[in-house]
Amino acid sequence: MESDKKLAELRDTARRAMERAYSPYSGFCVGAAVETREGSVHGGCNVENASFSVTICAERVAIGAAVTSGGRGLKRVYVCSTSAEPVPPCGVCRQALAEFGPDLQVISEGMDGRTRTWTLAELLPEQFRLEDHASGPRGEPGASTEGPS
Ligand code: THU
Repeated sequence: MESDKKLAELRDTARRAMERAYSPYSGFCVGAAVETREGSVHGGCNVENASFSVTICAERVAIGAAVTSGGRGLKRVYVCSTSAEPVPPCGVCRQALAEFGPDLQVISEGMDGRTRTWTLAELLPEQFRLEDHASGPRGEPGASTEGPS
């Protein structure tokens, strides 16, 4: 079945990406693959940094690869890691995924082969969208002209 083939491609891409993880500080390897609405698949791995907060998660690297290839709408993300159990994406990645796939499906696989599946709406029920809160740059109607007090 076409969708099963696509799922296998997503899984393979995530697992191959995980092998490239650069995680000398945590030792925790993560791979992610996103599928665009057009059906292209893009992988990413976590890339750590000696200045820890500079670290980028696998999901956001995969999003960047998809956007760089012209993909905007995301349908599914597949995550795998060196954890025995399936790990859900971190909070920052949930918001990053929401930008391109508010309704996307999140599939995660642990080293034991078990998978868990969520909708992004389950993982991040209150997604932040700028257009819900500001209609233009500072000074235009709908936008706050006051800075933080
Ligand atoms: N990590 C990810 O790549 N994705 C997540 O959703 C959670 C955490 C990475 C970041 C860091 O390199 C390592 O896992 C430990 O936090």
